[in-house]
Amino acid sequence: MELSRRTVIAGAAAAGLTAATVGGTAHATGGRKPVKSLFGKLADGTKIYSWALANGRTRMKVLSYGGIVQSLEIPDRHGRYKNVSLGFDNIEDYVASSPYFGALIGRYGNRIGKGQFTLDGKKYQVNVNDGANSLHGGAQGFDKRVWDIEPFTKGSDVGLYLYYTSVDGEMGYPGTLKVKVTYTLTKQGDWRIDYEATTDKTTVVNLTSHVYWNLAGEGSGTIEDHELQIAASRYTPTDSGLIPTGELAKVSGTPFDFRKAKPIGRDIRAAHPQLITAKGFDHNWVLDKGITAQPAHIATLRDPSSGRTLRMATNEPGLQFYSGNFLDGTLTGPGGRTYRQGDALCLETQHFPDSPNHASFPTTVLKPGQTYRTTTVHSFGC
Ligand code: BGC
Repeated sequence: MELSRRTVIAGAAAAGLTAATVGGTAHATGGRKPVKSLFGKLADGTKIYSWALANGRTRMKVLSYGGIVQSLEIPDRHGRYKNVSLGFDNIEDYVASSPYFGALIGRYGNRIGKGQFTLDGKKYQVNVNDGANSLHGGAQGFDKRVWDIEPFTKGSDVGLYLYYTSVDGEMGYPGTLKVKVTYTLTKQGDWRIDYEATTDKTTVVNLTSHVYWNLAGEGSGTIEDHELQIAASRYTPTDSGLIPTGELAKVSGTPFDFRKAKPIGRDIRAAHPQLITAKGFDHNWVLDKGITAQPAHIATLRDPSSGRTLRMATNEPGLQFYSGNFLDGTLTGPGGRTYRQGDALCLETQHFPDSPNHASFPTTVLKPGQTYRTTTVHSFGC
């Protein structure tokens, strides 16, 4: 599979959907090429584009900055569309203050303790941006990079190829990492993410997507009434810096038991030390299925008020469920509403946090000649 930079196909906009079809009330169905429009400019003049895609009953907009899902619209049980992902309506806010809204995360999703690890006997120090630790690839992670985007249509699928090359030493990580992410919208309206990467030096990789979901619509208030099911009997407790202790603790008899669907709010204020430390849920669940060759079901999220559902499948071994604990009312979404604690949740498929420092966790090491490949599928319903 070729992972080199590609040129965005000129004239794609002319051939595809109109903005009105994607953003308006028309019932979008698939097969047409994604449409590109200017979203804004970075301070240095770099143009940031928004790509509009629609298939089945799903419509989404993706930015060339961070591969960000800027909006994702799906219908409720009455056919009413809402944007169910938090974000901004301008590039300046994404650059200045986004807590990874909708972004691609790399090179390493979640935390690495003190930003340190050893590979082949050599010590590495990566960028530290979260107290004493490194979070989501460091201060200038993949969420803050400009990606080359190429649209495609393949049979009844539509989608985007996103390319980014991270140079040797970027944020302290060894090796030039060539990354290709494919966003596909299927004719059923499923959003599939395929991640691929190669390196020229031994390195660590853990890529994910950081959409903040609120199935009642962004800006509509708390997700505590959403029901969540996670197919995991264990999770990884953390220290006060949210670094796993190494224990794979049983969820049974704790607030972390989501094996049967339950409202997120039911136990979120339980006096459990792990919930107190993280100010809610912000943990990695150890998925019962383990690493699988093909994506397998791991979680279902349902908003009883609208009927909208999200089902997720992945071949990854872990899922970070983050209940939006650090949203504090200082950010305003595209609908003009501020985002407060618990107004959205993230479900980030991943290898476990701080794996480079835990020999007992599945490895995140990528060597020259190997290709990193993972897939996550989001299926929407109502
Ligand atoms: C982490 C949180 C962090 C958030 C960033 C999540 O993936 O688990 O601890 O605060 O990303 O907004």
